[in-house]
Amino acid sequence: MSEDTLRFHHDKHHKAYVDKTNTLAKNAGLEGRPLEDVVREARKRGDAGLFNNAAQAWNHAFFWQCMTPDKSRPSGALAQAIDQAFGGLDDLKKAFVNEGVAHFGSGWVWLAAEGEALKVLSTHDADDLLIQQGLTPLLVCDLWEHAYYLDHKNDRKGFLEAWFDALPNWEFAGWQLAAAQGRGEPWRHPAPQAAGPDLKTARAG
Ligand code: FE2
Repeated sequence: MSEDTLRFHHDKHHKAYVDKTNTLAKNAGLEGRPLEDVVREARKRGDAGLFNNAAQAWNHAFFWQCMTPDKSRPSGALAQAIDQAFGGLDDLKKAFVNEGVAHFGSGWVWLAAEGEALKVLSTHDADDLLIQQGLTPLLVCDLWEHAYYLDHKNDRKGFLEAWFDALPNWEFAGWQLAAAQGRGEPWRHPAPQAAGPDLKTARAG
């Protein structure tokens, strides 16, 4: 992922969702509430404008957590769960890339935990897993064209393959899986850097 893509994606696209969410949440009387609450409340009220922007703000913040410049592989319980669900990392990659390629239009492709099981699924536009019961996201990749068009043009498959090979933060995915299985809490907006070591300790315990 080039610097240009990252900068435009984060500083323009993501920022626009955040700015609109702040305005619309204020108008809706939800100012200062956790972003997860805003997303769920907007969906409940049928407020599509607020939902779309708030969910996109959350999805992008989560997406940044799902990437690391330090290339890694899944380990421990996560590696076992991947083997069990998909037969191995290569087969998970195939499932993840195929799901993303087959997805019509904009959206997101997810690796998620449902109880003990892992699954790959995609959601349309701004839809996320906060509005689906029983699913904890482990990883997500952005399928909107703004995520890959500068680097890969119309080659969504090439983008997804390159992304899967280089960028997933498997350590983060492992924490999310632990949380899904009742050990620790899943990631919540905003980014956990400040609370990172504590969260890690809690999760390890
Ligand atoms: Fe995006």
